Amino acid sequence: MDILLDCDPGLDDAVAIAVAARFSNLLAVTTVGGNVGLDHTTANALAVLDLLGRPDVPVHSGHDETIRGDIPIRATEFHGRTGTGSIELPRSVRAPDSLDAVGFLAKTIRSHDGVQPLWLVASGPLTNVAYLASSAPDAFAKLDGISWMGGSATYGNATPGAEFNAFTDPEAAQIVFAAGHSNLIMSGLHLTHTVLLDRLWIDRFTAEVAGSSTAVFAEMLDYYERSQRAVTTIAGAAVHDAVAVAVATHPQLFEAQRYAVEVMTDSGAARGMTLVDRRPYRVKAPANCSVVDAADGAALAALIWESLLPPGIH
Ligand code: RIB
Ligand code: CA
Repeated sequence: MDILLDCDPGLDDAVAIAVAARFSNLLAVTTVGGNVGLDHTTANALAVLDLLGRPDVPVHSGHDETIRGDIPIRATEFHGRTGTGSIELPRSVRAPDSLDAVGFLAKTIRSHDGVQPLWLVASGPLTNVAYLASSAPDAFAKLDGISWMGGSATYGNATPGAEFNAFTDPEAAQIVFAAGHSNLIMSGLHLTHTVLLDRLWIDRFTAEVAGSSTAVFAEMLDYYERSQRAVTTIAGAAVHDAVAVAVATHPQLFEAQRYAVEVMTDSGAARGMTLVDRRPYRVKAPANCSVVDAADGAALAALIWESLLPPGIH
């Protein structure tokens, strides 16, 4: 399977990159402003790929501002000032490629040979993906699947009702949900909060990779778990974005159903909410995506562990 990963690294995005690199043919990483600004998300993507021994994977930077032109609120309380907690990743000697993310995605999807399925996984705000859907609908429709970590069928985190990726750019999310792709899959907060790496897992993993080239991932997960525990009552690090990659690479680990989802784009308290129409009605709005509602958390933790081991130790 070929994957294009659009992300905003971000601590759990870093894990998502590792899972994609380990379990797919990761064609490229594109970056978007989200957890932190585009300069940091792009530098972090380059640094994480270096740490994974994958400097061959190109990085293309995309939009920092939202569709409306806002510079959104960042998630530094969870991801730290630069997006990798308190850990300073070695700065990559590489630079992002000159072609912008959306132009690259359109070109790459159009020229893809179709031998392997081609998926776009998005683990940040959907700004780049919305521009792709609007400016290159033929390329957008050619994707075999789009897996997004975002939204929620229950509570939010950015606000009581809105999840951060949806809340950051609701207009972009609504464009993507309304674009009519046949295989759009939403892994919302209601699901990703059930896939946790607890303190015992993190301590065991830290011991496993101590002194290795991927020990820094243990440091990042340690920070992430502590930052989440400081703010929430959740018993572990929710590696939200790794789930969205696994939905593409390991679909057998998930249960999903088709629903109509609408994103609230008004300026009230519901802004950024993803309304999932679960009414038991015979006649309602046609489904526009699959909502993932269950996951095999133990199997996901095991594949995350494997993806974070030093290169060559698999
Ligand atoms: O709400 C969780 C999402 O917001 C994740 O993608 C995390 O990286 C942040 O971007
Ligand atoms: Ca993210």
